[in-house]
Amino acid sequence: MTGEASAREQFPQTADRVTRQWSKGNFGARMYDFIVMHKRLAGPLGRIMWHNEMGDLYADIAELGDVPTGSEILDIPCGGGVALRGLRSDRRVRYVAADISPFMLDRARAEAARRGLADIDFVHANVNGIPFADATFDLCLSYNGLHCFPDPQRALAEMVRVLRPGGRLRGTAVVAGAGRVPAACVSIFQRADQFATVGRVDDVQRWLAGAGVIEPRIRRRGAYVLFSGRRDDAGKDSSPAEGGSDV
Ligand SMILES: C[S@@+](CC[C@H](N)C(=O)[O-])C[C@H]1O[C@@H](n2cnc3c(N)ncnc32)[C@H](O)[C@@H]1O
Repeated sequence: MTGEASAREQFPQTADRVTRQWSKGNFGARMYDFIVMHKRLAGPLGRIMWHNEMGDLYADIAELGDVPTGSEILDIPCGGGVALRGLRSDRRVRYVAADISPFMLDRARAEAARRGLADIDFVHANVNGIPFADATFDLCLSYNGLHCFPDPQRALAEMVRVLRPGGRLRGTAVVAGAGRVPAACVSIFQRADQFATVGRVDDVQRWLAGAGVIEPRIRRRGAYVLFSGRRDDAGKDSSPAEGGSDV
């Protein structure tokens, strides 16, 4: 059974509803993308909703400029292309922007055109069955995606699968357990089918370990985590390493 099939078997309605919601290009999807594209809006809103000004997100994206020339990068889910701002024109990399929503992919294409980035591959993909061979990428980015996926561990395992041995994973996600206002926001987004599974920090730790991510690091601020780790050098699943956590 493929990963996609297994996630759909476990969470069929959630997977379909969330996919439909993000693919519709309705008010919620447009509004989210407009906000995340404008740091000055995302900061204050993030402070209210997630007790976090989203600085970690934009700082992590900015580090993309340091990725070595020749790297192969997968951005899933790319959404409207917020991470594209991190690319530097003097660093030649292969960049694949993947998302399940054709609507969000169109927005990402428009963002790439606006930035004069011609060499991006846009791929319609479900994170539960990423359409690339094992060990294809040096870096996988997953910003603001885990909380939209019905089966986050399955999604992370897919990202690890397509990473080369030693390849790195970086991302952010909303987490539970940070107070009433974030909990109310999560509930609203889940009812609107924009969010699926929102775990606590220890769930994120467990998902990373279960997916075979080694040297995991998680930094939590409010209801938001920045996480990173890598696939082991041998490219095999490994038992959870003693990863750092700033939680
Ligand atoms: C909150 S947005 C994040 C997008 C972008 N990374 C960002 O930070 O703005 C969540 C994205 O996840 C995508 N998505 C939801 N379920 C997915 C799935 N199963 N596979 C791939 N993408 C998915 C949605 O289409 C949406 O673009």
